[in-house]
Amino acid sequence: MSNIEQTLSIIKPDAVERNLEGEIKEMFKSNGFQIFKEKKIQIEKAEAEKFYKVHETKPFYNDLCDYLSSGPIVVMILQKENAVKANRELMGATNPIDAVDGTIRKKYGISIDKNSVHGSDSAENAKIEIDFFFKD
Ligand code: CMP
Repeated sequence: MSNIEQTLSIIKPDAVERNLEGEIKEMFKSNGFQIFKEKKIQIEKAEAEKFYKVHETKPFYNDLCDYLSSGPIVVMILQKENAVKANRELMGATNPIDAVDGTIRKKYGISIDKNSVHGSDSAENAKIEIDFFFKD
């Protein structure tokens, strides 16, 4: 049975700053993702804190929120069969050092913080994250 899903993807400030938006979108498209909606925005730190609330007890939370709000980002709804899992595979491991060849983070990521892309980690969180940026 087909399972067309949507997931949220963010091209993070380090990648937008290096003009990688076009190349990263091309990787999504050539891997069968449809970019259903997209917008380029810059968010306030308070919004980043809300978005990453699940990480609020982590030692890296403050830096993470400073970073996500530090420059323009591109937020996208990606659509594909089993999009959540497929996107996680295409992104690669959180730390680019651990990411395998052919993944976005291996190709473009600089560090665990500047890892170029974010993607929802479950279908449930995909709905929450899509609503966060696209509800209106
Ligand atoms: P992301 O998928 O956007 O989700 C949370 C982010 O926290 C993660 O990517 C990393 O960029 C960042 N981060 C920084 N330090 C860590 C860490 N030790 N473990 C996991 N994520 C981290």
